[in-house]
Amino acid sequence: MTLDVASAILARRATKVFDAEHRMPEEDLETILGLARRMPTAFNIQNWRFVVVKDTELRHEIRKVAWDQPQVTDASALLILCADIRAWEKSPARYWENAEPDTREMMVGAIDQYYRGREQVQRDEGMRSCGMAAGAIMLLAQSMGYTTCPMDGFDFDAVGKLIHLPEDHEIVMFVALGKPAKEPYPTGGILPASEIIIRNTFS
Ligand SMILES: Cc1cc2nc3c(=O)[nH]c(=O)nc-3n(C[C@H](O)[C@H](O)[C@H](O)COP(=O)(O)O)c2cc1C
Repeated sequence: MTLDVASAILARRATKVFDAEHRMPEEDLETILGLARRMPTAFNIQNWRFVVVKDTELRHEIRKVAWDQPQVTDASALLILCADIRAWEKSPARYWENAEPDTREMMVGAIDQYYRGREQVQRDEGMRSCGMAAGAIMLLAQSMGYTTCPMDGFDFDAVGKLIHLPEDHEIVMFVALGKPAKEPYPTGGILPASEIIIRNTFS
C-alpha cells in the first residue's frame, strides 16, 4: 500500500496502543530510514543519528524512564532520533565529496565559519534536522501501512545513559512505529489558520 503525501498527512495520528505481536520486516525499516536520510540538512552535514532499539530488555528499561508508556515496548520498531552536535567539524569534506574541489573547499570553510563557537546554533541545527527526519519517517511509515507515535515523554538523561549516548550527541525525540491495536482518540482540535499563518509580519 502506498499513500500520496496529502493522504498520509491526513491519515497520520499518534498511536498510543500498538499491536505488540506485530513484527515489521527489516526491509520496511530500511526503506523508511533510507528515504528519511534524503531529507535536507543545513550544509548537508547529515547530523542526525537514528538509534534502532531492537533489544527487548533495553526497551523495557527505556519504558521505565518514559512514564511507563506502552508504545516503547509494544511498537514494532522504536527509533531514538539523536543529533551529533559536532558533526559539522567531523571531516566535513565528506559532506561535499561529489562537488567540484573548489566548491568543496568553499563549503568546508563556510561550515566552519557558521558553526565554530556557536553552541546554540550547533544544537538547534540538530533539532531542525531530526525534526524534519521525524516528519518524513512518520509519513513514509503511514504510506506503507504503519502508524507511528512521536514521543518526548521520557527522561532524556536516563535514556542517554541506557543507550550510551556519546558526549557530543543530544537525544531529540523517539518515533515508535508499528500496527495500531486501538483506534486513536478524536483529533484534539485544529487551531484557526488565522492564528497560525502570519502574512509578512506579526504586527
Ligand atoms: C514532539 C512530540 C512529542 C510527543 N510526545 C508524546 C509522548 O511522549 N507520548 C504520547 O503518547 N504522545 C506524544 N506525542 C503525540 C501528541 O500528543 C500528538 O501528536 C498530538 O496530540 C496530536 O495528535 P495526532 O498526532 O494524533 O494528530 C508527541 C508529539 C510530538 C510532536
